[in-house]
Amino acid sequence: MSSLVVANQLRLDRKWEAPPAAIAAFHRRMPAYSPTLLLDAPDLARQLDVGRILIKAETRRMGLPSFKILGASWATYQAICAHIGGEPEPWGNINELAANLAHLKPFKLATATDGNHGRAVSFMARLLGFEAHIFVPEGMAAARIDAMMAEGATVTIIHGDYDDAVARAGEEASDRCLVVSDTSWPGYETIPAQVIEGYTTIFAEVDEAIDASELDHPDMVVVPMGVGAFMAAAVTHYRSGRRRPVLVGVEPMDANCVQASAMAGEITHVPGPHRSIMVGLNCGRPSLIAWPRLSAGIDWFVSVDDDHARQAMRDLASAAVVAGETGAASLAGLQALLAHADGAHALPDRAGSTVLIVVTEGATDPVAYEAIVGRSHDRIGRVLTAIR
Ligand SMILES: Cc1ncc(COP(=O)(O)O)c(C=O)c1O
Repeated sequence: MSSLVVANQLRLDRKWEAPPAAIAAFHRRMPAYSPTLLLDAPDLARQLDVGRILIKAETRRMGLPSFKILGASWATYQAICAHIGGEPEPWGNINELAANLAHLKPFKLATATDGNHGRAVSFMARLLGFEAHIFVPEGMAAARIDAMMAEGATVTIIHGDYDDAVARAGEEASDRCLVVSDTSWPGYETIPAQVIEGYTTIFAEVDEAIDASELDHPDMVVVPMGVGAFMAAAVTHYRSGRRRPVLVGVEPMDANCVQASAMAGEITHVPGPHRSIMVGLNCGRPSLIAWPRLSAGIDWFVSVDDDHARQAMRDLASAAVVAGETGAASLAGLQALLAHADGAHALPDRAGSTVLIVVTEGATDPVAYEAIVGRSHDRIGRVLTAIR
């Protein structure tokens, strides 16, 4: 197994503005919204010699198998408000919102995806009665494409990688089509910034669950990174208040664009093909608007190979958490960090520390999950201690 662990030399002691409270209020009006579980994983903590490991399990979020709907829903809503020039008529639930927006039809949402974001945008389009057009890189697993089509989306396979799909999706923008991308490029920055804002709900939920318990807030937070939008949300949350845990970002070895950019001192393209099984992280370029937060806010960059991810999936299954390849990356990264000569000291008081890992997806490719873990995802056993 191979990994690359690097301390961030670009780190700045900068404070960011806290996200607007309207985000959480918006999410509470989404169907099937409830905070996801925060789990205590004592066996994993023992194995890694840390005081406590908390797992924020984004394996089921509003009925979808990843956290991405939090960003896609908030950004779509904000983009629609901008399109119609203000808030729609007052609404209490998504059906009322859809009725208030019916006059826009025919109307479309478009994006590129390596899986989860596209599914979330497709889901949002269906809820609002809009069409969805999703652009995907070649080689995407059939299960992921089928899931988007089951939401009613048109899926177009681009002969190229994720970055090619992003470029193609950007061309769809029109009076009748909003591009809701989770990555940004020059001139396209507002919507991806709102995607980042939407993700901050996860960390607000973690705070609430911990405040309602006897537990300590995390000393370290570990998050997987593709274009870095999710990590930018972690930086927004954890670098806007008084608690400032060590932040660790995890990427695949051959798509470590945030780590490579940090080492180069500027945004750097890591050319494909990106073939990691952590498909949600197969991105060659960090998001432009995420970069200032990533470069200033992260403490450690860790890239891991697929064997690390497979092992972490099995370890999480032993702890009763069903994590897909991408979702398991945070545990894989933590394991690699703590096994590294310098990384092992990232927590000054390891045995007394609490580490939060975010498991960002469930078994999005059930066939691959069973092949790796040796059991079907619906046969992963007992429930861990839920903090909340
Ligand atoms: C399950 C999962 N985790 C993490 C990420 C990484 O998010 P970001 O691209 O914002 O860094 C993704 C991105 O698609 C994902 O699908």
